[in-house]
Amino acid sequence: MDNPFDRGAENLGNITGLEHVNLEIPEQGPASDFYLVGLGLTRDPYMFPGTNNMWVNVGRTSQFHMPTGDALVLRGAIGIVIPSRPELLQRLEMVKDRLKGTKFSYKEHNDYVEAHCPWGNEIRLHEPDVERFGAINLGIPYVEFDVPTGTAAGIAKFYKEILGAKTKVKTNGNKAAHIAVGLKQELIFRETDKALAEYDGHHIQVYVEDFGKPHDKLAKHDLITEESDRCQYRFEDIIDLDTGKVLFKIEHEIRSVTHPLYLRPLVNRNPAQTNRTYSLGGDNWNPTLVQSLGAGNRVPDPLKAPKASTIAKRRAARMADAAR
Ligand SMILES: [Fe+2]
Repeated sequence: MDNPFDRGAENLGNITGLEHVNLEIPEQGPASDFYLVGLGLTRDPYMFPGTNNMWVNVGRTSQFHMPTGDALVLRGAIGIVIPSRPELLQRLEMVKDRLKGTKFSYKEHNDYVEAHCPWGNEIRLHEPDVERFGAINLGIPYVEFDVPTGTAAGIAKFYKEILGAKTKVKTNGNKAAHIAVGLKQELIFRETDKALAEYDGHHIQVYVEDFGKPHDKLAKHDLITEESDRCQYRFEDIIDLDTGKVLFKIEHEIRSVTHPLYLRPLVNRNPAQTNRTYSLGGDNWNPTLVQSLGAGNRVPDPLKAPKASTIAKRRAARMADAAR
């Protein structure tokens, strides 16, 4: 049977989701002004309501975790999809005075708005783009790390062989390892020859479907840093599998999809809602983009396998029996 569909194209690889990026912050006030008012995101109302930690929801599946502590700064950038660039720019302008004297800044590029948090973390704010980021109008589609020249290929090999991820090394612009995460999310490791800051301990958390095999392989290379609980372990070093050399450090919280928090529903608000222009029923974020197979991805008459006629006969006989 001549199948027009590429069935393998729908495989996600073993890393099924990037949930949170963990960045410690010294105080919640400036973080609230930046992440909640400026970016328009939502503080998780249920978990960590106090001043020792705040979770900030970014759409259906992603979060920032911000425990109180010394400021941590990711060596790279965090991509966010958020609708309406004009409204985003208005919000960022609104918090400018309150964040004076911090590392807060923002500027427009063609592709995205670049914003820096009060402690210097770079956030790239993209408008929704179904082709590029999938059917999301709010979420974290990628985290991009700056890595030393000559490490991208080794990093891709590590994620493929140890984590079972789908990977690509792209050479448009600076060479970069692209690690597929779930549906259209990515970890990107882009080579740079600029000096990189020392690793300060920020972390990312991903879910994996096959939880056991990556653990065995990481343990074999003596890379596990924490056996957290039944559904989580951690590692930090990404190594060259041929030489054992550490290529990059970033703590990974690896969780199984049996983890109790997997696919926890996240509350998101509509940042356009105000007391002056209040719209009844408009408090919640509206995930207006819907995913469609698209007309081009259907066949007018589904192809039937050779065994289909036998099955059809059996079904017809059953229906005739039932009608008697
Ligand atoms: Fe975490």
